[in-house]
Amino acid sequence: MNQLILVLDFGGQYKELIAGTVRKSNVYSEIHSGNMKISDIVKLNPIGIILTGGPNSVYLPDAQSIDPEIFDLGIPILGICYGMQLMCHSLGGEVAPGKSGEYGCVTVTPETGKKYTALMSHRDIVRKVPDGFKVTAKTALCIAACENAAKKLYGLQFHPESKHTKGGRKILKDFLFNICGAKGDYKLSNYLDKQINEIRLKTAGNKVLLALSGGVDSAVLAALLSDAIPDKLTCIFVDHGFMRLNEGDEIERVFSKRDLNFVRVNAEERFLAKIKGISDPETKRKIVGEEFIRVFEEEAEKIADVAFLAQGTIYPDVVESGGEHGATIKSHHNVGGLPDNLSFKGIIEPLAGLFKDEVRSLGKKLGLPEYLVNRQPFPGPGLAIRIMGEVTLDKLNTLRQADAVLRQEIDELKTKPNQYFAVLTNTHSVGVKGDERTYDYVIAIRAVTTDDFMTCEYTPLSHKVLSRISARITNEIKGVSRVVYDITSKPPATIEWE
Ligand code: XMP
Repeated sequence: MNQLILVLDFGGQYKELIAGTVRKSNVYSEIHSGNMKISDIVKLNPIGIILTGGPNSVYLPDAQSIDPEIFDLGIPILGICYGMQLMCHSLGGEVAPGKSGEYGCVTVTPETGKKYTALMSHRDIVRKVPDGFKVTAKTALCIAACENAAKKLYGLQFHPESKHTKGGRKILKDFLFNICGAKGDYKLSNYLDKQINEIRLKTAGNKVLLALSGGVDSAVLAALLSDAIPDKLTCIFVDHGFMRLNEGDEIERVFSKRDLNFVRVNAEERFLAKIKGISDPETKRKIVGEEFIRVFEEEAEKIADVAFLAQGTIYPDVVESGGEHGATIKSHHNVGGLPDNLSFKGIIEPLAGLFKDEVRSLGKKLGLPEYLVNRQPFPGPGLAIRIMGEVTLDKLNTLRQADAVLRQEIDELKTKPNQYFAVLTNTHSVGVKGDERTYDYVIAIRAVTTDDFMTCEYTPLSHKVLSRISARITNEIKGVSRVVYDITSKPPATIEWE
């Protein structure tokens, strides 16, 4: 058993970042609800507890509270933002609205040592710390840090888990290793060995089926299962024909080499026929999703005696669904929902304890190529929703080439946007190539910078890079007269165009 840091969630948007940062220091962490019972906390035997931030004010009647008994357990506790306010409020300190909010990078002055900048995001402040606590850092407007070292209780008004807090990671490490006595015993290789054992035990020689989309989670899961139960695994890869240039072949190449029964279903014509004449984005999405399920069902029925379905559920899915998983067949990660009329004895979700970057690291350990492991998000309906209006084979081929040029050029850059792709707009525009007038498609380029894909800024690619991409796309690809650059953030736009 690994030592455990318990992250108690009070609704803060950074809970996963906190728990993920702890794990990066080789200390295992789990996220649980802020109203977890003390007896349940004790059962888990954590070496330390972190209280997350949250959107509430502690003095409001419906604010999430905490059983003050937690502070007498003798377990070191770090309260972050709302977590610090909650700790101080519960122990007799005073929390009140500040003169003004502090949102963004703020200068922190510690009692000892140099000033530093830290990410703050709060309106309320701790006005008076509880008895036994001392203030260890301040900003112009608030108490930035406090502690009761004898009881191992610590509070930070700022976010040490954010990369915008200078030295934040070190502060967290100090808490883990110097205060909680962490040994750093959490290693991904142990997770891997444990999962391999558990998968073998649970499936007990029965057959397992996996829908492989080529996305990171299903790819890593396929690699893991192919090591654990090589002769019992079948992966069905439904190639709907809306993948990027050579993507389907690359997936086939990687997985055909592994020890598994790999089934590729080339269904491009079938999918194109299904969405012929359809321009509405939601209808396209729905049709592709449903057709995916039909194809998967047909293929699954050809395989006798499959007892288990493997799913690429990861830890954030579990946290977001309130800790429940495995009970129902989750929506397929990329396309619609998997069929519920296929009967399985059970579901296995071997990645359900891992964060996305841990899944990527595991993929590397399992020998998957870099481009698969670091693959950008890609919508389930693929290029079908990056072609505005009706999807045709000609349009698909044009977009595939434009997207490949864009990716080649951006892949050369030292710092890359978090997501980048080409879109085939449904607009024609006049151009001139040689002496000839053309009336061809307008390709749009999208490149965004984001942490969570919930919001994003457009990435200000340099004019030099944009000019090269534009010149290459218009010169190398037939049927394109013009390239435009999407400079809209999310909100108000979304990342995808449809
Ligand atoms: P939007 O367009 O909503 O996209 O700003 C946010 C992120 O989600 C990706 N995306 C999808 N991912 N299945 C997925 O797995 C989908 O159907 C889907 N649609 C959008 C999108 O690429 C972006 O990263």
